[in-house]
Amino acid sequence: MYDFDKIIERSGTNAYKLDLRERNFGTNDVIPLWVADMDFAAPPEVQEAIKKRASHEIYGYTIRKEEFTTAIVDWNAYKHNWQIEADWIEYAPGVVPALVFSVLAFSNEGDGVIINTPVYPPFYSVISDNKRKLIKNGLIDNEGRYEIDFELLEQQAAQPETKIYLLCSPHNPVGRVWKKEELLRIHQICTKHNVLVLADEIHSDLALFGNKHIPFASISEEAALNCISFMAPSKTFNIAGFSTSYVVTSNKALLRQYQNMQNRLQLHMGHLFSGIALCSAYNEGRNWLGELVPYLESNILYIESFLKEHLSEVCFFRPEATYLIWLNFKKWNLSQKELKKFMITKAKVGLNDGVSFGAEGEGYLRLNVASPLAVIKKALEQIVEARK
Ligand SMILES: Cc1ncc(COP(=O)(O)O)c(C=O)c1O
Repeated sequence: MYDFDKIIERSGTNAYKLDLRERNFGTNDVIPLWVADMDFAAPPEVQEAIKKRASHEIYGYTIRKEEFTTAIVDWNAYKHNWQIEADWIEYAPGVVPALVFSVLAFSNEGDGVIINTPVYPPFYSVISDNKRKLIKNGLIDNEGRYEIDFELLEQQAAQPETKIYLLCSPHNPVGRVWKKEELLRIHQICTKHNVLVLADEIHSDLALFGNKHIPFASISEEAALNCISFMAPSKTFNIAGFSTSYVVTSNKALLRQYQNMQNRLQLHMGHLFSGIALCSAYNEGRNWLGELVPYLESNILYIESFLKEHLSEVCFFRPEATYLIWLNFKKWNLSQKELKKFMITKAKVGLNDGVSFGAEGEGYLRLNVASPLAVIKKALEQIVEARK
């Protein structure tokens, strides 16, 4: 039994979620339910492995050995029924950095990259900061359950400058786990128009409520050859501070090009704890994750019924994955500025601004449910109280 109810004091640890409140909200006096990490202790097995290595007094240049790729192969077979091979894998210092390396490696300045908006904000900067053309494929909001506009996707993919489709699967912030039919249509469109699929699957282990994540590259051999998958144990096991992620592709040429770019930027080394954190999490964290998922689900169900009872005009689509919910406040008829001001100064709750995910986020705030239930309850009560 792991204790997800335990409230752990994070101040004094330079936690982004706490220490950047002043910069982001203009005050420290908000309950921080924004940045996507969890307020739960990492699996004890990971803590032990890190402490064990930390107790050795030399922290020199360190390599990752076969156990790194073996842990990844085993985890993906166990969790996603996805059979991959060790030589399809390359370490990456983070999913976002790996997306940058890929954009640099597989497109030129001026080339187009498609994203499904609203979406995780770095998807925009990965494209624009590298002088690629951002092609927005706005998701269709079907009463809160977002869907891909395939007709538009087909038109966008057909443009000669379009080189990459950056897929967020599962999707942050709208919480969709894409169905096999949806993935197949993406594959069919992208392959037809020679558009490379970069599949950010960082949230894949956090499928909820019986939903099943399907790795894009697992849908067919042809899809796998036109795709790079980006994965990590960081969201799953709350170890984002270790900068440990990896890319997978069965396409040898793509992998080589990716590696060349990462090497060219001299970012292939990673740090001492990266391999240790990943191996201990993947090899020994199964039970922990098995208890985490129902805890997250029960927090989500709690929020759902609380809102129904106390703030029925605020709603959200029950996420199929991730510990993030996309809260719709449109019925309050406030401007985004007023909504944010209300949440910060009156309710004193720190949520992500919906507009930071794209213009479609007007009227929305994103709430991170990966906190002890007592914290979530307090935040909800503060919102209700402030609204009176
Ligand atoms: C879709 C998505 N990709 C990537 C990341 C971050 O990845 P990393 O910290 O490995 O760069 C996040 C974090 O919230 C995310 O939601």
